[in-house]
Amino acid sequence: MREQWGSSAGFIVATIGAAVGLGNIWRFAYVTGENGGGAFLLLYLGCVALIGLPLMMAELALGRRAGADAVTAFDTCGRASIWRHAGWIGVIAAALILSYYAVIAGWALRYVFGAATGGLWQAGPAGYAAYFEGFIGHGVEPILWQATMLAAAGLVVSAGIKGGIERLNRWLMPVLAVIVVMLAAFAMTLPGGMRGVAFVLSPDWSVLARPAVYLNALGQAFFSLGVGMAVFITYASYLDRRTSIPRAAVAVAAGDTAFAIVAGLAIFPAVFAFGGDPAAGPRLAFVTLPQVFAHMPAGTIIGLVFFLLLAAAALTSMMSLLEVPVSVLVERTGLPRAGAVVIVTVAVFLAGLPSALSYGVLQHWTLGGLPLLDWVDQATSNITLPLGGLAVAIFVGWRIAPRAALADADLAQGRTGWIWLWLLRIVVPVTILLILLRSLAWW
Ligand code: TRP
Repeated sequence: MREQWGSSAGFIVATIGAAVGLGNIWRFAYVTGENGGGAFLLLYLGCVALIGLPLMMAELALGRRAGADAVTAFDTCGRASIWRHAGWIGVIAAALILSYYAVIAGWALRYVFGAATGGLWQAGPAGYAAYFEGFIGHGVEPILWQATMLAAAGLVVSAGIKGGIERLNRWLMPVLAVIVVMLAAFAMTLPGGMRGVAFVLSPDWSVLARPAVYLNALGQAFFSLGVGMAVFITYASYLDRRTSIPRAAVAVAAGDTAFAIVAGLAIFPAVFAFGGDPAAGPRLAFVTLPQVFAHMPAGTIIGLVFFLLLAAAALTSMMSLLEVPVSVLVERTGLPRAGAVVIVTVAVFLAGLPSALSYGVLQHWTLGGLPLLDWVDQATSNITLPLGGLAVAIFVGWRIAPRAALADADLAQGRTGWIWLWLLRIVVPVTILLILLRSLAWW
């Protein structure tokens, strides 16, 4: 018999663990900072509710209906149908995302050790940029940390759905929730911290005149929820019929969004209180924040806890990305789980080497003017994520008989189901096509 989650609550916690990751802390903070704060947040909330949530429900319904890996889930229309291959988009993209995600997760782990041993704090007030560049530009160091994070994720995933993924998430996610709330409570009491709160919560409407802001909001919603990459198809394939899919999806989307906002309420008050630049880009977490921590009361401890949070949140997302190709391999070749984990982990590690070295020995190898890591990030977020989402929306919206789709999503009764179905049929694909066209123009 195929393995199952131990309980409905265990499934929901694990799925929140997949959704909450670098996207909620590192990426949410810098993208919100670059896009002007509060008004961006409202757009992002709209994208979560109208696009992200319907897609997540579709992935969950599809996965549970199939009770099989993400490729098999699409393979129900006969041998001649192109849908037989649609699942591979998500599987390959999950592996690609994992390849560079592991590198950044490795940076976070490196900073945990830097903060714990004190090495980080010796960088001196102006030295944090140099510290960061010295590390990411080093020939081997980033690879060691990338490998460590991948090995940790592989270890948990090889212990299985219930005994590995569910068990770790069950205790780790509540701890992370407490930590992020405490960090926010502390940051908001800093003198001047309220300006950071205002930055996140009070909208500056002028940013809405910039078209890129809308795309960034949608991209951030996709990435942070983790839709489009077959993660929810895979997780729900181990789910029983007693769990309500709309309720699970709302819990996961709300949990993910709340986590991002609270993380923002930890980061921006600290940044504003100490005169940092909220629009510092991807370096916000690794250069601006250490500078801030160095000035803060108890900052060395807060800094350590912050990077622990970042690394741990990344780990639970890595597990979900890893499980997608692992389940395909296990179910389509009959390999034992541990063997499949080793194969996928090594392949993802090798695929991530160019990213790991992209600020060091490979820094002159750029694609379209971008360092390799940034290129893989852009290519997956702008192209494969929307493509994967589009495939799910069209398959569940148009290919599965509507009554069956509604029943799969536990929405056979009442009118809500039809709202969901029409969002999935029209609003989701049209919006995704718009972003795709726009990112193709960008290429
Ligand atoms: N959602 C995670 C984050 O916020 C990352 C992630 C996990 C993801 N699974 C995904 C992103 C699938 C895209 C697709 O960091």
